[in-house]
Amino acid sequence: MSFTYLSQEDLLAAGCLDIRMAMDVAENALLAFKDHRVLFPEKIVQIFSQASQERINCLPATLLDEQICGVKWVSVFPNNPARHGVQNLSAIFVLSEIEKGFPVAVMEGTLASNLRVAAMGALAARHLARRDSEVIGFIGAGEQARMHLLSMKAVCPGLKVCRVAAKTVADEEQFIAEMAPLVPDMQIVAAGTHGRAAMIGADILVTATSAQAPLLKAEWMKPGAFYSHIGGWEDEYAVAQQCDKIICDDWDTVTHRTQTLSRMYAEGLLSGNDIHADLHELVSGHKPGRESDTERIYFNAVGLAYIDVAIGLAMYRRARAVDAGRTLNLQECMIFEHPGIADRVRL
Ligand SMILES: NC(=O)c1ccc[n+]([C@@H]2O[C@H](COP(=O)([O-])OP(=O)(O)OC[C@H]3O[C@@H](n4cnc5c(N)ncnc54)[C@H](O)[C@@H]3O)[C@@H](O)[C@H]2O)c1
Repeated sequence: MSFTYLSQEDLLAAGCLDIRMAMDVAENALLAFKDHRVLFPEKIVQIFSQASQERINCLPATLLDEQICGVKWVSVFPNNPARHGVQNLSAIFVLSEIEKGFPVAVMEGTLASNLRVAAMGALAARHLARRDSEVIGFIGAGEQARMHLLSMKAVCPGLKVCRVAAKTVADEEQFIAEMAPLVPDMQIVAAGTHGRAAMIGADILVTATSAQAPLLKAEWMKPGAFYSHIGGWEDEYAVAQQCDKIICDDWDTVTHRTQTLSRMYAEGLLSGNDIHADLHELVSGHKPGRESDTERIYFNAVGLAYIDVAIGLAMYRRARAVDAGRTLNLQECMIFEHPGIADRVRL
């Protein structure tokens, strides 16, 4: 029994940071889910600090058409950047085939996970953002924000200006230093930690922070704007209340989480009747996306494990196609078939 081990470097070298690939895969997975071709159990959450929300989550899913069952084991430690100078989110994926149930891959999962968040935002933007969007504003300048800038630029190539507000000026400067070379035709402007300066008048608004506070104000969102909400509680309730359409990756899942919309639901301020659609309904053409240039539209993705697994699988296949990674042995035979097993048993 053996599996392929893929590090993040293996995946990057194999060309897996591919926004279009991730969007195509996410779209197909959404359609498979709609057709009941996906097993999608509830995730398991273990929270170690209520104050900081440090947690490790276990998110399984099965793609029946692909005959692949996978799990994302993901850590979210919001204090990591400030306290340890390392990333907040880290993840590992295991993929197994479901003929014999054997593992086929163990792979670094932060890349796939962050790419999934960005691909879902971009799929939503394809249906919901104005085609002539030129200005994108961010509150939050971390890993999700960075990947989101790339994916939004991929679907809205007319984006010219990016404004970014973070908790510290240093966070904004790092964002600009790392992202400017990747989007050379865009001007990236630091907002000096002022959310208003980043967001006011923007065509696309993104919040991707580790804060738990109503940072985005409704009055900063102009008519026609598209808002992609990524973190937890990041916007005042009036933002959703003034939007003409609210779309979720999966409303039912949102009702079980702690995002702004989840809080509003728990407090009786929002119900399923207020939700225009789940994203798969736009992708499949069952519901319209943007219908006018003046609609304000709110998109909230809380994360769907089957999209993670689908993107992880696509990465694994692409990596295998170029012989990336290493094959590792898990076991050579069954336990009692091992030569010399009698010498290894301890009673
Ligand atoms: N929706 C999803 O599917 C999904 C997936 C992964 C992560 N997330 C969430 O996205 C958020 C961002 O994750 P990340 O990996 O980018 O984290 P990160 O630590 O890399 O970045 C966090 C950013 O938030 C900023 N920030 C913190 N407090 C702020 C404040 N008060 N005002 C302005 N900016 C502030 C920081 O400056 C930093 O730039 C987290 O809440 C994470 O849990 C959501």
